[in-house]
Amino acid sequence: MDSAHPTALLELQNVTRTFTLPSGERLDILRGVDLTVEPGEIVAIVGRSGSGKSTLLNQLGLLDLPTSGSVRCNGVETTTMRDSARSRLRGEFLGFIFQQFHLLDRRTALENVAEPLLYGSRADTRHRFARASALLEEVGLADRASSMPHLLSGGEQQRVAIARALVRSPRVLLADEPTGSLDETTGERVLQLLIDLVAGQRTALIIVTHDPDIAARADRVLTLSGGMLQAASESVAA
Ligand SMILES: Nc1ncnc2c1ncn2[C@@H]1O[C@H](COP(=O)(O)OP(=O)(O)O)[C@@H](O)[C@H]1O
Ligand SMILES: [Mg+2]
Repeated sequence: MDSAHPTALLELQNVTRTFTLPSGERLDILRGVDLTVEPGEIVAIVGRSGSGKSTLLNQLGLLDLPTSGSVRCNGVETTTMRDSARSRLRGEFLGFIFQQFHLLDRRTALENVAEPLLYGSRADTRHRFARASALLEEVGLADRASSMPHLLSGGEQQRVAIARALVRSPRVLLADEPTGSLDETTGERVLQLLIDLVAGQRTALIIVTHDPDIAARADRVLTLSGGMLQAASESVAA
């Protein structure tokens, strides 16, 4: 193992991602990204629409393979793993929150939160629902456990999605514009909840955002521009 950061949860080294369009045109979206994520830190990633933020998050989330470069999770190289091993690592280490909440619309709030535990090692029903109930309580929705998602407000739906993302106690939570479809006040509350929850479990949070207020709460702010990641203070154009 030649990781430069043996304690890193995630470590990207010289990651590139090129998409080839049906026309044959090549889009070099990531051009050599280095990023190390340590336990408990909050990292904000900012950048123009189309700059590749979601593409980068897909690399960090082991959802996509780089065109070249190294992606380590907990010190282990993931780019050469079988898909099944990478999926297992993803389920054990990583949680995801998206702008559109991606809840299952025919399942209750409680069933949505319990769903990731179906793939865990302790999948017995009683344990799953006890754990899911505890998380729903943490996000302030204990009394909405049996509600279907469409009967919940946007902020409540995103809180269900947060509970679901945390139910397996991930070491890293990846959030792609998690307040992007909420009004300002609701977004602010959801963000505060997210920060409190990750701080309580020493979960690292990588958050993609356009919102300068969110970036201000992060330990580090990185700008993605021209396919490269740099500290926001070094960026020439936001
Ligand atoms: N699977 C894909 N095939 C082709 N182009 C893609 C694919 N995924 C993303 N892109 C392109 O890569 C660029 C960056 O996309 P994205 O990472 O979604 O940006 P952001 O999240 O910063 O708005 C966009 O031009 C997008 O159209
Ligand atoms: Mg995006």
